[in-house]
Amino acid sequence: MQEKYIDESKQGEAFAIAEKPQNTKKLFLESYGCQMNFSDSEIVASILNEQGYNTTLQVEEADLILLNTCSIREKAEQTVRMRLSQFKNLKKEKPNLTVGVLGCMAERLKTKFLEEEHLVDLVVGPDAYRDLPNLLKETEGGRDAINVILSKEETYADISPVRLGGNGVTAFVTITRGCDNMCTFCVVPFTRGRERSRDPHSIIEECKDLWNNGYKEVTLLGQNVDSYLWFGGGAKKDFKKASEIQQLTAINFAKLMEMVALAVPQMRIRFSTSNPHDMSTDVFQVMAKYDNICKYVHLPVQSGSDSMLEKMNRQHTRAEYLSLIKTAKELIPDVAFSQDMIIGFCGETEEDHQLTLSLMREVEYDYGYMFAYSERPGTPAEKKMKDDVPADVKQRRLAEVIALQGELSRKRMQGYVGKTHEVLIEGTSRKNENQWKGRNSQNAVCVFDKLEGQKLGDFVTVFVHGNTQGTLLGTTVVE
Ligand code: SAH
Ligand code: F3S
Repeated sequence: MQEKYIDESKQGEAFAIAEKPQNTKKLFLESYGCQMNFSDSEIVASILNEQGYNTTLQVEEADLILLNTCSIREKAEQTVRMRLSQFKNLKKEKPNLTVGVLGCMAERLKTKFLEEEHLVDLVVGPDAYRDLPNLLKETEGGRDAINVILSKEETYADISPVRLGGNGVTAFVTITRGCDNMCTFCVVPFTRGRERSRDPHSIIEECKDLWNNGYKEVTLLGQNVDSYLWFGGGAKKDFKKASEIQQLTAINFAKLMEMVALAVPQMRIRFSTSNPHDMSTDVFQVMAKYDNICKYVHLPVQSGSDSMLEKMNRQHTRAEYLSLIKTAKELIPDVAFSQDMIIGFCGETEEDHQLTLSLMREVEYDYGYMFAYSERPGTPAEKKMKDDVPADVKQRRLAEVIALQGELSRKRMQGYVGKTHEVLIEGTSRKNENQWKGRNSQNAVCVFDKLEGQKLGDFVTVFVHGNTQGTLLGTTVVE
């Protein structure tokens, strides 16, 4: 059984952007992992675009190959290692070719990468992309170059990302970087460093700019968006007492989202990812208040069992999570949820597993991302706990969780049938070029026949008459 993977269709995809005629060098940039990496690649492309590089989709043409990598599970790292090995011959043929590794694997492995993978010339962590021009000067001189310094401040707020491979309709806007939560299984706090929030004014400006350039939807992005907090710079940890923070006019996530909703009132707003521990009622209230904020929350829970949640250091209980869901459903009647689950974490019993299944039934998630636990070097779980659930048990439980999510998704999709939905046209359906694809507010994908006069980026009213497990089938309502 294959685990589901976020943005599966895009893993390892390379993107190209419009060329600057004066640029003479070619960059092949491929991204793996979460949306944040895809968003970071847009920052990297923007920096290198100023340094004489145009992007290419032909790896053979490249002067510089960059892989923006993921460390979240062992499999993600293996994929990158395999991909690197494919560049061996190319490197032999073109001695001047530079191969660089960016992102979480760069941060986790540091100089080890240069030792283990002789092919790699350049290693750059997620907070060091501004240093790329200097690092490339070193590699041009024939030396290996590395910068994996993590920052407490870097948010790349002033760099306007070039939009890679997008549809010109939907875009990501990073609002926080890093994570301070220290879930025991997770490598992110080690690879992406301390949590920091981006200046709200630069966020609003970026959203307005996107709207003025024809974009119709933004996803506010962060490892942990609901812990967003801004008080004129400085890290949250610089303030010792809550009262010190209150004295400043702080902007939290709910407030930020409201500011964005008002600044671009016709733009759709989504956000990802929220941590239940930091989620609060005011976020749901703002969601309910503004029509342009989508009625969808990705709220990873990882397990339905209190003892697992405690071992994972998630800092909330099953009951607290369910009460959060209940509040959201009360405040936003048509709200949809999706989950992340980790199956077979250290010490997980059959009873724990059943609690995960029962929680899923109770919430009735629209969608889910489910993973077998993969031990990550250096994490608290690796240091202090035993990865003791046998692989076959993990796989069996994972299959059960995926099957149940399939059932729940189908049921939720059926609930959308017989109703009209506002759908944003995001592209042509992959299966049928005479059909559009888009999503409703709840993030459910909807396909429907193209009508004359409709175009990419239009909001259309669609009557949904049928569904599959993950897709709504509809027809445009002609007004
Ligand atoms: N804050 C981010 C977390 C990013 S990690 C978010 O909530 O989305 C994305 C998901 O990967 C996590 O929610 C978790 O379900 C999964 N994950 C993280 N570490 C893992 C590990 N060691 N093994 C398996 N899955 C893991
Ligand atoms: Fe990882 Fe937990 Fe943060 S899953 S990214 S440590 S919220």
